[in-house]
Amino acid sequence: MTLTNAALIAVAVVAILGAAGAFAVAYRRSQSVEKADPLAGVSSETRAADRSSTAVLIPPRVEEAEEAVDEEAPEEEPEPPEAEEDAVVEILETQRIVEVSPEEGGVSRRQFFNRAIAATFGTFLAAQGLYYLAFFWPKLTGGFGADIDAGPISDLRTQVFTPDGAVLPLFIPEARAYLVPAPEELSDQFEGQGVETDGLMALYMRCVHLGCRVPWCAPSQGFECPCHGSRYNAIGQYFGGPAPRNLDRFVVENQGGNLIIRTGTIIQTPRAPVLLVQYPQGPSCISAVAEA
Ligand code: FES
Repeated sequence: MTLTNAALIAVAVVAILGAAGAFAVAYRRSQSVEKADPLAGVSSETRAADRSSTAVLIPPRVEEAEEAVDEEAPEEEPEPPEAEEDAVVEILETQRIVEVSPEEGGVSRRQFFNRAIAATFGTFLAAQGLYYLAFFWPKLTGGFGADIDAGPISDLRTQVFTPDGAVLPLFIPEARAYLVPAPEELSDQFEGQGVETDGLMALYMRCVHLGCRVPWCAPSQGFECPCHGSRYNAIGQYFGGPAPRNLDRFVVENQGGNLIIRTGTIIQTPRAPVLLVQYPQGPSCISAVAEA
């Protein structure tokens, strides 16, 4: 499993947990409402079905009333009891309400819609988060910005070094770089910076003036920018034009016989005080622009 896949899985898990959290919050809120009103989760149909009329007999408290009268007036002769009144019976019609647990009451429409909205919103946020994360996620396991394996160095040298001695840069699209033959002796500009291995250098194709792609010009044996006329020799040393420095280059390494181009490490060098490779060696491809 690659680092990117692991990260995406981790993000997906976080997004799912986030959606579950949103769902849990909505659920807890609905529970708190139910606690405040025990019948909040009971549908109107259930309430109507649960209503019944019951007659309640309220017995008269004759003995208590007589005792109270005896205590307040002990000296008076008790009057003979009048004819015993019929016991007062009060009939009250009450509504019997039975508390129903949420499990018995089921999910109300209100709860259902609240939870559905929360789940939909959480899913939408999770999907958006995944989309933006995937868009901005750095490509650390391939592509520009990572270490690019250009292939066996022996094969690369065969393509770059031509039998007649002319330079033929090999373009590596994934690295956005030209592989060119390195001079036998490096100048102080490049010495010790890791920009050469096994006689090869990797030049960044981007012009250091304003960023146009700089094509190779075979007749002049150099790189010539068609945008504003900057020119560089076969190893990217500045020759003329508005460019402020040499072409940028990448750190390269020999790993097990393969050439690794570290496109995450760009080496900048100032204008060349001395050209290590002659330029131009023929007519310029952009002479009209350069002379303008
Ligand atoms: S972008 Fe190359 S010379 Fe301006």
